[in-house]
Amino acid sequence: MRRLAEELRRHNHAYFVLSAPTIGDRDYDTLLRNLEDLEARFPQWLEADSPTQHIGGDALASFLSAPHLVPMMSLSNTYNRDELVKYDERIHKALQDHDFTYMLEPKIDGVAISLTYKSGMLTRGLTRGDGRTGDDITANLKTIPSIPFRLMAESPPSLMEVRGEVFMTRERFAALNQSRQEEGLEAFQNPRNATAGSLKQLDSKVVAERPLDAIFYAVGALEGEGLSTHSNLLVHLAGWGFPTPPKTWAGPGIQHMIAALEELENERAQFPFEIDGGVIKVNQRGYYEELGATSKSPRWAVAFKFEPEQAETLLRNISIQVGRTGVLTPVAELEPVFISGSTVSRATLHNEDEIRRKDIRIGDRVVIEKAGEIIPAVVSVKADRRMGDEREFTMPTTCPECTGAVVQRPGEVALRCENSLCPAQMKKALRHFASRQAMDIEGLGDALVDQLVDHLSVLSPADLYTLETDRVAELERMAVKSADNLMNGIRESRNRDLWRVVFSLGIRHVGARSAQILEENFASMDELMSANREALEKLPDIGEVVAESIVDFFKNETARKTIKLLGKAGVNMNRLDTSPSGERNTPIAGKTFVLTGTLPNVARDKAAEWVRGEGGKVSSSISRNTDYLVAGENAGSKLTKAGELDIPILDETGFFELLGRPSG
Ligand code: IVH
Repeated sequence: MRRLAEELRRHNHAYFVLSAPTIGDRDYDTLLRNLEDLEARFPQWLEADSPTQHIGGDALASFLSAPHLVPMMSLSNTYNRDELVKYDERIHKALQDHDFTYMLEPKIDGVAISLTYKSGMLTRGLTRGDGRTGDDITANLKTIPSIPFRLMAESPPSLMEVRGEVFMTRERFAALNQSRQEEGLEAFQNPRNATAGSLKQLDSKVVAERPLDAIFYAVGALEGEGLSTHSNLLVHLAGWGFPTPPKTWAGPGIQHMIAALEELENERAQFPFEIDGGVIKVNQRGYYEELGATSKSPRWAVAFKFEPEQAETLLRNISIQVGRTGVLTPVAELEPVFISGSTVSRATLHNEDEIRRKDIRIGDRVVIEKAGEIIPAVVSVKADRRMGDEREFTMPTTCPECTGAVVQRPGEVALRCENSLCPAQMKKALRHFASRQAMDIEGLGDALVDQLVDHLSVLSPADLYTLETDRVAELERMAVKSADNLMNGIRESRNRDLWRVVFSLGIRHVGARSAQILEENFASMDELMSANREALEKLPDIGEVVAESIVDFFKNETARKTIKLLGKAGVNMNRLDTSPSGERNTPIAGKTFVLTGTLPNVARDKAAEWVRGEGGKVSSSISRNTDYLVAGENAGSKLTKAGELDIPILDETGFFELLGRPSG
């Protein structure tokens, strides 16, 4: 088994780190399967760092947090040559007449992580977090095949924190999005979002399916190894089996670095992953301490940020998108262009005012930019390129989806379709209703929602509860089994917490948090529906605007009817598992809790849910009415205030005891 593991490790490294495979896929799979078989037969000899263990394990309830041994700092940014020259002057001044050189590396646009190795074995992987403590995402990071479980070294350092970036290559990101769209799942905005979203998964088996990769470029704590230069550090990291930056530049002065940065920017598109700049580092590690750090970043390195990528293209047409709340958004239909690693064919134009301000006309040559690499926007028009046949655009007076009337509410720039049965709005409303944060209906993805509205006349969330399996099974890409799954998902959603039901209705300005506050204060949908503005405004975190929006919503006939039908369909309309304060005989009922800081074993939302489940209240601020403060790590001013007011303070263990839950 050891021999097989060793052989697989070598092939892994050759394939994932060096991109120079030493064996064919089939032969590799055979070796891997042999080892898996042996491990199944002799589990007592399964080693934690076996190459079979890149596959993910049991899902977690939440991430624990853990401290970095050496804080994880970030870098100060520069945007032009002058700022770099100034940086260089400061370094020269600090180092007086010592000789030093610089190195330049690509700045990888991913998610920073830190891995701890003890005696050469990977023991922990953390996110940056607040720089002092991060989330323990070891299980997720272990699924990344290019991260070594053990260092390739005879005598590895006794302790080492290795820092680097997790990312997705552009190619594998595009493939991931493609298959998500085919499955009716929402596409990720960009590789960085996809990476961050993946690393946040509590189920490492999901992470194992995501095409993540990593590159390492720095160390935190390092014991038992003296490395005099950064270039030497990179050589060692590579020797130990880590992927390191694919290209670096070294040189004696800042002018060399400026020239190298130009090369890097020219080669930007040739890197298989997105880079958003370069990082210039003093090569001599011996000077790092002397150079010191600001509160946020060390002085031995500086980032140089590239301009966001822009591209010029033809604005073919302007179409209208209708959102969940009926807002009409003009969208630029573009001749496809490649920009920042993906092909762009649409960009948002925000609203009519914006189109007027920028004087955007159909047929114009326009400059688009991925601002922060999110949704691309049209930044300007090449007015000098006009031929004379460009057309001005006016917003429609009726909704392009349902021909309903379009109105502009006082004080708003947006135009809205006011038809509550508009299919475009209905689709978005249903997507929201079914989403994870709301009713969490499994199996109801965006593509299926569209089909339900278009083919099965689902026109309100209440219609979901009258669907028939047979009809659903006839839809495109559906079968009896997937239809059954959907029906189960819909059935189960009837037992959701009241706040989820409230949130799922899509009341303007009512997010998940406000919905929870509403549930804390109203025991049922009926109570909430008859609340007046004054009562609502008194609640914590619910201001005038939110209160008004709630009252307006419940005045609406269609909304009232939907709620009534949902209730009839068996959807829960009451605060679950509670009775008015004091009636129930638990130590929690009727008590007010404030939760603060990071609890080691449970997310705050979850803890709050438990309290409410036992009939307690959760409030966001400390007052004389607070019964308990539950304080986790990094609890701030609330801890002090609770102390001043003599309010009992519980740590997680105490909290668990009060709840009668087993701790740990
Ligand atoms: S060195 C003390 N090198 O950019 C911080 N960082 O904006 C040492 N990054 O926090 C970081 N590529 O997450 C370094 N070649 C590279 C990098 C890099 C990407 C990230 C890293 C850092 C952030 C700063």
